[in-house]
Amino acid sequence: RQVVYYEETDSTNIRAKDAGEKGGEHGSLFVAERQVAGKGRRGRGWESPAGTSIYMTLLLRPTFLPVKAPQLTLLMAVAVVEAIRQVTGLTGGIKWPNDVVFNGKKLCGILTEMSTEIGFINYVVIGVGINVNQETFPEEIKDKATSLKLETGAGIRRGELIAAVMERFEAYYETFLKTEDLSAVRARYNRLLVNRGQEVKVLEPDNEYEARAVGINDTGELIVRTKDAEKTIYAGEVSVRG
Ligand code: BTN
Repeated sequence: RQVVYYEETDSTNIRAKDAGEKGGEHGSLFVAERQVAGKGRRGRGWESPAGTSIYMTLLLRPTFLPVKAPQLTLLMAVAVVEAIRQVTGLTGGIKWPNDVVFNGKKLCGILTEMSTEIGFINYVVIGVGINVNQETFPEEIKDKATSLKLETGAGIRRGELIAAVMERFEAYYETFLKTEDLSAVRARYNRLLVNRGQEVKVLEPDNEYEARAVGINDTGELIVRTKDAEKTIYAGEVSVRG
C-alpha cells in the first residue's frame, strides 16, 4: 500500500480526501507527526501536537452502498482496541458508536467521511487519532482524555501500533466485503461495549428517554430496551459530501 507521511499537515483526513478526489489508490494511508487543523466529530477540533500521538487516515474505495459506510467506523474501533491490547496488554473498551475509552477516558477518536456520486461511494476516509505517549493534556480535556503511556506507564512505539491496527482492520474489512454487515465482529464489539447493560439517555429530535443498552445489531445500530419496548438507534456518524 501507499503510505504518505507528513512531518506537519493540516489534517490527514483533508489529505486523504484530496487524494480521493485526485484518483488516490484504495488502501492509501496518510500519517502525520503533527496536524495544524486536526478535526474531530461534530465540527470540533482535535488537538494534534507533535511527538506523542498517532494521527492517520485510511483512504478506501469500497463498492458497497453508501448506507453501509458508517459500519466501517465500528469495525475500526474494534481493530484499534484489539491492536492496543496486542501491543500494550491494555484492554480498552468502546463507547458506542466509536470512541475507544479506558476507565471512562478517551484513548482514541475516529472520524469517517465520504464522498458519493450518483448513489455510489466515490471514496471513504477513516481518520484515527490515538493518544499514545502523552504525559499531560490541556486543561479543557484533562478529565476526559488519557493516553496509553499514562495507563500503562510505558512508552509505546507508534509504528508498531499503526501496523497492528492496519493488519486487523484489513482482515475485518475482507470479511465485511463478503457479508456487508458487522456479523463477523458483532460479538467482539458487544463484549467491548462499555455501555452494555447500562442506562443510556436517548436523545431524539423530538423526544428524550432513558433505556438500557443491549448491544449492537448486525448493522451497527444500538439496541436499547425500555420497560415496554425494544428500539434500535442509528449512529450514522459519517459526514457526507458529493
Ligand atoms: C472524534 O471527535 O472523536 C474524532 C477524532 C478524530 C481525530 C483524527 S486524528 C487523524 C484524523 N485527522 C483529523 O483531522 N482527524 C482524524
